[in-house]
Amino acid sequence: MPPTDKKILSIFGTRPEAIKMAPVIRALEQTPGIKSLVAVTAQHREMLDQVLTLFKIEPDFDLNIMKPGQDLFEITSGILLGLRGVFERSKPDLVLVHGDTTTCTAAALAAFYQEIPIGHVEAGLRTGDLRAPFPEEANRSIVSRIASMHFAPTNTSKKNLLAENINEKIIWVTGNTVIDALLSVRNTIHDHNPYDWLTLPNKTVKAIENIPEKLILITGHRRENFGQGFIDFCAALIKIAEHNPRWLLVYPVHLNPNVQKPVFDLLQNARNIHLIPPQEYLPFTWLLDSCDLVITDSGGIQEEAPSLGKPVLVTRAVTERPEAVDAGTVILVGTNPNTIADQAVDILTNNTRYAAMSEAHNPYGDGHAAQRIVDAILEFKIPKKTKPAPF
Ligand code: UD1
Ligand code: UDP
Repeated sequence: MPPTDKKILSIFGTRPEAIKMAPVIRALEQTPGIKSLVAVTAQHREMLDQVLTLFKIEPDFDLNIMKPGQDLFEITSGILLGLRGVFERSKPDLVLVHGDTTTCTAAALAAFYQEIPIGHVEAGLRTGDLRAPFPEEANRSIVSRIASMHFAPTNTSKKNLLAENINEKIIWVTGNTVIDALLSVRNTIHDHNPYDWLTLPNKTVKAIENIPEKLILITGHRRENFGQGFIDFCAALIKIAEHNPRWLLVYPVHLNPNVQKPVFDLLQNARNIHLIPPQEYLPFTWLLDSCDLVITDSGGIQEEAPSLGKPVLVTRAVTERPEAVDAGTVILVGTNPNTIADQAVDILTNNTRYAAMSEAHNPYGDGHAAQRIVDAILEFKIPKKTKPAPF
């Protein structure tokens, strides 16, 4: 009799989870002995759909929970209640969640409540500060307590898990799947005509084709930076733009209203700052590959930029991704406007420093993380119940 397929349900809901789970889903789908199902919470809607379209992922379940300006209570309760029925209908052997969003933690909790084993992709990242990033550090720590398989992207993240007494036998160091995704699109981006990308305004393509003295790519969305943090961040960008009129700053603005409002209020009149919509992954990779410097508080971009040899200023006090800081490509600058502006100008005008920082590094992966995850799932004896045996 042929062995029964392992039924794996991957659950995600935001843009970065979709980008990082796409290679895993592709690998699961291509593996005999596995039946792959996908549930999206749609914690993000437009920004999620951009990725689903690019990677041709058709979810089996869509909770469609996003509401404008949603809070953490609404996201968490919507996912918990929505997944109950999904689990009843799909009866997975293993649920895969990714990273540290509220989708990740609420989905893991829902699986735990129904005693379905959990595999945690991108496990073990830690800042050591429960409030930074907020709520992600708590989110990922909670999932580590209840997961049955931990896919750590690096040895540093494995060490973090071991320090929390997670059994080494259920930790696999795989590399980060974001590098799989990046490498899968990177070689194709220059085959495209940038004027064809619908999310990228022609005006911005034209300004880049006119070869600005320096091109800086910017993103920002962390909750702990809302309010004064974003005001300071914008002040830094104005300072950089005004003092360097031949530089171009391109900023795809996250759709969160807490980001949109200060950014458009403070920056929309700056001549050499282009505020553009969130980019599909291909044009975003093109921008990343074309720029000289990145200023961001994003997690995923801290991982992608080093492998393209792009220096990064991270507008946060702490990072859970120390590998590229150690390699010298990433610098933590916080949100002080003078520090951000001074560092950006120094890196872009000091050739020796720039050369050292822009050496390409791949501390986060080699493009084969998804296959390692699938291999681990194939070989692992998935426990039938997550509840510990009675004393
Ligand atoms: C979320 C995650 C964060 C992750 C980030 C990636 C939580 C608590 N936060 O933050 O960990 O780093 O995604 O980008 O899980 N919106 C839209 N359309 C979209 C997406 C968002 O309109 O496609 C707007 C909506 O008004 C929504 C708001 O943005 O209510 C906030 O979205 P939410 O997912 O709550 O938080 P993010 O800041 O995106
Ligand atoms: N990204 C994108 N379009 C954009 C901005 C970012 O495709 O306009 C990609 C980026 O390449 C990375 C991911 O989205 O893979 C990072 O998402 P985000 O910064 O929203 O979340 P985080 O990684 O901080 O959780």
